Amino acid sequence: MIRRAGFLGVLALAGCVDAPMTGAQLYGDYCASCHGPDARGGAVAGAPDLTTLAKRHGGRYPAVYVMSTIDGYARAETHGPMPIFGDLIDTPVETWVDPDGTPTPTPVSLILLNEYLTGQQGG
Ligand code: HEC
Repeated sequence: MIRRAGFLGVLALAGCVDAPMTGAQLYGDYCASCHGPDARGGAVAGAPDLTTLAKRHGGRYPAVYVMSTIDGYARAETHGPMPIFGDLIDTPVETWVDPDGTPTPTPVSLILLNEYLTGQQGG
């Protein structure tokens, strides 16, 4: 299934990179080695289950927290072991409307990963 925003993200990238990027591919390339192919965590010690993010944040998927964790903005001591994805976020910027309705310029890779992980909730 292709959700609309993800589809637009792929279209926007089509002229810039060799192969279109999807959230699932990004996850597989950059995250699965630690968080597991099914996002349930534990592929390396201490990597949390990413399918329970919504459950653990009052039933609401914490989009801003997730994006900030990936790009490093939200890193405190608690996020020490996870790499900061500088290369990953060096993709074209699109406007992403955050959960409060604020349009925010955001790297496409983060938008796609976020959509992918939103779809993985329910664990
Ligand atoms: C080298 C292993 C490693 C890789 C690769 C990795 N992570 Fe992590 N991640 C961790 C660890 C360990 C933690 C928990 C400790 C911490 O917060 O650093 C974590 C924490 C997180 C959290 C916070 C989870 C929570 O329950 O609060 C999110 C969200 C997350 N990672 C997403 C990702 C995404 C998305 C990717 C791919 C772009 C990724 N991680 C790649 C090891 C990794």
